[in-house]
Amino acid sequence: MAKVTVHRKAHFNAAHRLYNNEWSDARNVTVFGKCANPHYHGHNYELIVAVKGEINKGTGFVMDMKILKDLIADEIEERFDHKNLNEELIEFKELNPTAENIVVVIWNILRTKIDTTLELTVTLYETPRNFVVYNGE
Ligand code: NI
Repeated sequence: MAKVTVHRKAHFNAAHRLYNNEWSDARNVTVFGKCANPHYHGHNYELIVAVKGEINKGTGFVMDMKILKDLIADEIEERFDHKNLNEELIEFKELNPTAENIVVVIWNILRTKIDTTLELTVTLYETPRNFVVYNGE
């Protein structure tokens, strides 16, 4: 049976600050630039969740898009939207909320909720031009 990848786009706004507290303020500014701003700043994150697998003979679906849509809404948008990632998400208490770390956190959350016979890839845009991709490797 053919393998097809289905994609669902989603969106959330969130604030963050990139900072390594083992470094001086000057070094943080050198490495993280404006993202080290102690007063935080926001991004309009765009998310693309890709699920790859065989088409189910009964449904004709790889995965029911309504289920995927609700999963992303409940597990990701609800959790991340309009949040200060550093202050409000337990995952980033000790972890710098870079796009790289955010995409891994999102993938780990979704992976537990999607059938293990399906491959999962998450793409996260932090800006229209900067994006990261994670597939569990
Ligand atoms: Ni930033």
